[in-house]
This record gives sequence, C-alpha cells and structure tokens, in this order.
Amino acid sequence: MTTASIGVAVVGAGMAGRAHINGYRAASTVFDTDLPEIRLVAVADAHEPFAVDAANRYGYERAETGWEAIAAAPDIDAVSVVVANHLHRPIVEALLAAGKHVLCEKPLAPTVADVEAMVEFAEKSDRVAAVGFTFRRSPAINAIREQITDGSLGKVMHFNGHYWCDYGHNKDAPMSWRYKGGLGSGALSDIGSHLVDLGEFLCSPVKSVRGSVLSTLIPDRPVPLGTAVGHAAGVGETREPVENEDVATFTATFKNGTVGTFSVSRIAYGLPNSLGFEVFCEGGAAAFDLARAAEFTIADDSPPGPINGYRQVLVGPAHPYVTRGLPMDFPSVGHGQNDLFVFQARAFLDQIAGLDRLPPVPTLTDGLHNMRVLEAIVAAANSDGKAVKVQ
Ligand SMILES: NC(=O)c1ccc[n+]([C@@H]2O[C@H](COP(=O)([O-])OP(=O)(O)OC[C@H]3O[C@@H](n4cnc5c(N)ncnc54)[C@H](O)[C@@H]3O)[C@@H](O)[C@H]2O)c1
Repeated sequence: MTTASIGVAVVGAGMAGRAHINGYRAASTVFDTDLPEIRLVAVADAHEPFAVDAANRYGYERAETGWEAIAAAPDIDAVSVVVANHLHRPIVEALLAAGKHVLCEKPLAPTVADVEAMVEFAEKSDRVAAVGFTFRRSPAINAIREQITDGSLGKVMHFNGHYWCDYGHNKDAPMSWRYKGGLGSGALSDIGSHLVDLGEFLCSPVKSVRGSVLSTLIPDRPVPLGTAVGHAAGVGETREPVENEDVATFTATFKNGTVGTFSVSRIAYGLPNSLGFEVFCEGGAAAFDLARAAEFTIADDSPPGPINGYRQVLVGPAHPYVTRGLPMDFPSVGHGQNDLFVFQARAFLDQIAGLDRLPPVPTLTDGLHNMRVLEAIVAAANSDGKAVKVQ
C-alpha cells in the first residue's frame, strides 16, 4: 500500500460481488478524511460482461476477466474475493503472495483442511486477511451484543436462530455451484455459516453440537443455460443431482453454557431472506429480525410490571456503525431511508436520459402544491375549525 491511498479491487461481480463493489464506493464517501484516499481500481469476473458492467456502473477504473490480473497489478492494495466457495483458496493464497490485503467471502473454502492451509498461508503474510461475516456489521445486532457484554441483560442462557431462504424452493431453480459439494456444503455453509457466526458473536464459541439433521428434499435441478447470477438463470431440460442439503437443523452448547437451537433452510416457501434470532438471558431478552434490519426488540425488568414487555428500539447514532457510517447518520434514518436517495437519483437520471422506466420525479409544481397544502394547514389553525380551501 502506498501511504497516500488504498487501491481496491473485487474478484467476482455476481450477486454478492456487486455488494462489495458498491461497499467500497460507499465506504470511500464515509471513510474518515484523515485516512488514505480510496481508489476504486478494478473489478474482475470470468464472465467479462459482468466485470465491464460493474466497473462502469460503480466507477472503477478498469475491468478484468481473471483474478491473476488483480494479483499482478501494482496499483491494487486490497481485494475482496466474492466467487464460488471452491475457488476462494487458490485466489486468496495468490493474492496474499502478491502482497494484497484480502477480504474473502464466507465460507472460506469447502473443507476444513483447505481453510487450515489458508490460515497457515495468511499467518506467514503481514497483510490483513479477513472473512466477510457481514451480519456482524449490523448496528442492531451490535447493540444487542453490547447489552450482553456490558452485563445489562445478564448471562445468556438460550440462543435460538433461524436463517430461512426460498432460493431453492422451486425444484426447477437452476443448478449452480451452491448445490455441488458434499454434505454440509449446501444450506449449512451458504447461510448457516452466518447464523453460527452470529450465535458465537453474541454468546461465545460453540463447544459442541448435537442432533444435527441435514436433508436434501429436492434431489435434482435443471442445468442453467448461460451464466447464472446468484440464483437466477435460464434452464434447459437436462437435470443434475443435488449433492448437498436443503435443510439443516441442530442444537449447540456454547462455551459459556448457553444452549443454541438452529434452523437453516434454502427451501423455505415465501421467505427470500429471513434471518432472525432471540437471545434469552438471566436478566432479560432481545430479538432481531432482518426484515426489520434497523431495529431490535429488548425486554428486561426495568419498566414496572403493568407496562413490562418487549420494547422496540430503532437504531441510530447511539449504536455502533451508524455515526459516520451513513450519509445521513441521524437517529432512526438508519438503513432504508438513505437508500431512497439512490432510488430517487436513479429516477431523476433516467428521466434526464429520456428513459421511461420509473415514475418521474415530482415537479416544482408538485412542490408548490405541497407548500399550498401546508399554508392551508396553518390557515386552518386560525380558522376556528372551518375548512380552508387549498389554492
Ligand atoms: N455475505 C453475504 O451476505 C453473502 C451473500 C451472498 C453470497 N455470499 C458469498 O459470496 C460468494 C459469491 O456468491 P454469489 O452469490 O455472488 O455467487 P455468483 O454465482 O452470483 O457470482 C460469482 C461470480 O464469480 C464469477 N467467477 C467465477 N469464476 C471466476 C474467476 N476465476 N475469476 C473471477 N470471477 C469468477 C462468476 O462469473 C460470477 O459472476 C460466495 O462465497 C457466497 O457464499 C455472501
């Protein structure tokens, strides 16, 4: 790394790759100004149109078709690896060998032996080598964790978590790398890895597990036509066997004695991305639901009996990550409202470009009408309950 700047690149411009690509761009706008400049250098994808498209959209300097070019580039210091799990190891090792800092997606590789080798490799390097357990960055989950670690909720006794998705519910959803590999490489590693990490993030390391049930309910899937992105692709007539589990359930005991109950599925009808958990502690409890990502609920004995119960807490600058983590880091603006500015900018720019894809932006006349309504409301305050006509 040059001291003046950090050059970033992303390997893989599929579903999650684009989130990393966007993440660096957004982070460079909230990154503290006393730190090095972030340069958005390159996006690499084996499918060239994805690389070119993502580099153009997100303002990266260039597109590549292989990670080798990223490893060889002297102007790149830090790289996200966001490709299929079985490709992580060779890419991560080569990038570290080339002196890059690496952020690799979860799960790090298909087998423990592979990951052990990756860890050994990373230990010989002085670069940052990291795994992307994204949900650890949730302000709400961190706020719950703070209530546990500072003792407010008391000792954790029971963690109950689910990660239910429906991307595999349709038996004709296309075959992809996600359905290949042995038992454990399916829903368990794809989404269960997040849930296990969250359980440990909140409780302590898992000491033992028991009662695991890993089942494949849809035995084969159609081969995709062309390149699949995430879970989407056209399919043909030919089908291939599914090699790993659709559903995984298990219980765990954490080192601190907490009991864990876990349920993971990729065939959960009607739930595209449902992650949630409860933590029951000696002095209270808390819960999180990804469908309401900018809030959490918490219960303890602080309010007196008649009004005791779960309270909804909206995340804001009092919680981790929000301050200087969002363009508008205001209480309860949180995730969600900031995104509306992107949607708005897109509609505005579409309209300028003459594209008729989104509802047009409201006009100044709409703004004038809004003002007139406000004016009438003020006038109504002084009209003794009489109707005031909006001009
Ligand atoms: N943290 C999260 O929330 C999250 C969410 C989704 C996926 N993931 C992880 O991200 C990784 C990728 O998942 P995805 O859903 O984006 O997959 P994807 O199939 O949508 O995208 C993978 C991309 O890698 C490209 N590719 C394949 N071989 C390549 C190579 N040699 N060099 C460069 N590009 C190559 C493919 O063309 C494809 O565009 C996985 O490890 C997955 O577990 C994490």
